Amino acid sequence: MSDDATKAMSLEESNTKKSDTAHDSSPNGETQEGNQTLSKRQRKKLLKHQKWEEERDLRKQKRKERKQQRRLDRVSDEPGEGTTNSRKRLRREVTPSSLRLVVDCSFDELMLIKDVRKLHRQIQRCYAENRRAPHPVQFYLTSLGGQLKQNMDDHDKGWVNWKDITIKTEHYIEVVGKEELVYLTSDSPNVLAELDPTKAYVIGGLVDHNHHKGITFERAKELGIEHAQLPLSSFVKMNSRKVLAVNHVFEIMLAYLEKGNWREAFFTVLPPRKGAVAVGQEDQASQDSDSDASEHHAQDSTTPTMAPPEGNHVETSHTSKEEEET
Ligand SMILES: C[S@@+](CC[C@H](N)C(=O)[O-])C[C@H]1O[C@@H](n2cnc3c(N)ncnc32)[C@H](O)[C@@H]1O
Repeated sequence: MSDDATKAMSLEESNTKKSDTAHDSSPNGETQEGNQTLSKRQRKKLLKHQKWEEERDLRKQKRKERKQQRRLDRVSDEPGEGTTNSRKRLRREVTPSSLRLVVDCSFDELMLIKDVRKLHRQIQRCYAENRRAPHPVQFYLTSLGGQLKQNMDDHDKGWVNWKDITIKTEHYIEVVGKEELVYLTSDSPNVLAELDPTKAYVIGGLVDHNHHKGITFERAKELGIEHAQLPLSSFVKMNSRKVLAVNHVFEIMLAYLEKGNWREAFFTVLPPRKGAVAVGQEDQASQDSDSDASEHHAQDSTTPTMAPPEGNHVETSHTSKEEEET
């Protein structure tokens, strides 16, 4: 309480005593004498304080009601009851996948700092997408160190509190059994048909603008581990090479786990481009691209292009060109 209010109260006490003898109360309980002694400001404070005291029970009652309401809200959020809280509902529907996705950060020394920064952003994207996925994977970052770790420390200190991720300084070969590993690489002659939930799929943590073409394929062969490329060619007619960015590969894997269908997974994740085609729809697309020719922008040479499957609305989580960089 402020000094003024304290003073006002002690004055009020003495005035009350006086009024007991004088019997000279006004209708609101103030004494005539007291009113004369108190300044206007003090009287105002005193009244405020009296009101606060009078309403004590009312406030208590309201607190009780709010508590009761919260309890009722919690009960109606229980599974089986209708709920308006979509965040809670989404969290409950999450079924983690046993599939492991490893981002292999052992290429740190091959990258310029600007590409390390891009890789960092791609990894942040992978982390965020996995956290909100209905079937999140067991996410691993291996061989974390060097420029990448420095960049993470400098620009996103929060990474040390990341949840549901295993971060290791060790190489993936020391973390996962050799026979469980499948290196994802566009240079592999093997094409992924399905995902095996018992496997750990490795993505090369590299932004190299194809300066180190085939490097991950060579590494996988040297280590004698399985390798495979995504079945892009079966669903997407590429007008450029089919090397994707780390986050796109990661998101395609998440989308496949959700939809159980490669075609849908590709079209959900990869940015749609006008004039490009889904395999089997070349005729339709060439008509569309003729009419759209004036709007057609230069293609990013690192990005596969495609048209959405007929009747499908393509929602893309892609937000910036930078995230596409390979
Ligand atoms: C930008 S690429 C790196 C390209 C690098 N020159 C290489 O040899 O892998 C990033 C990673 O995404 C994965 N990746 C990209 N496109 C892929 C595809 N079509 N199929 C399978 N994995 C792919 C690979 O793991 C690759 O290392």
